[in-house]
Amino acid sequence: MSMYRMSGMIFFVALMWMSPAFADHEPEKSQCPQKRQTSKAPDEFLNLVSPLAVSKKRIEKGRLLYQTQATPLQCRHCHGKKGSGVGHMGLEANPPARNFTCSEIMRTISDGQMFFAIKKGIRGTTMPAYSDLVDWKIWVLIQYIRSLESRDL
Ligand code: HEC
Repeated sequence: MSMYRMSGMIFFVALMWMSPAFADHEPEKSQCPQKRQTSKAPDEFLNLVSPLAVSKKRIEKGRLLYQTQATPLQCRHCHGKKGSGVGHMGLEANPPARNFTCSEIMRTISDGQMFFAIKKGIRGTTMPAYSDLVDWKIWVLIQYIRSLESRDL
């Protein structure tokens, strides 16, 4: 290979590497609306109302859980860093991980329904149960998830 072609290739690879889309490893968005398999939560969950008022501090705590702290697997791996359902394990899942930025679907899902999905997992899907999370952590996760819907991507 000539030096000229080599340097051209190196330049191209460097460009790819520097481009934000490539560095992110995530496509922009998942489908909206998506196919949704989650069954309706039992009434004792469905009617739950968060005891915690929405605040910046709580949304930030939710963000930390979502992005780096929740175990065994942080939410971002499936739901994506921006919540648009495009985490590396989320796109391959069938049904796909929920796209939290999709208002059309999210406005039909109550806080209690989400609480149920997080606490108990969703049978027949890859959504795991986070049964070890204490209630307030689930509520701040929900505050963070709701904040993603309105975020301009
Ligand atoms: C291994 C992949 C995976 C991880 C990790 C994951 N989820 Fe999910 N999640 C899914 C999938 C897949 C669905 C969609 C299931 C469906 O269509 O019914 C889902 C759905 C949901 C829903 C929507 C429930 C509904 O009623 O539609 C919520 C809320 C949710 N996840 C929250 C979370 C939170 C919070 C975390 C982290 C604490 C998390 N998920 C981690 C895969 C995952």
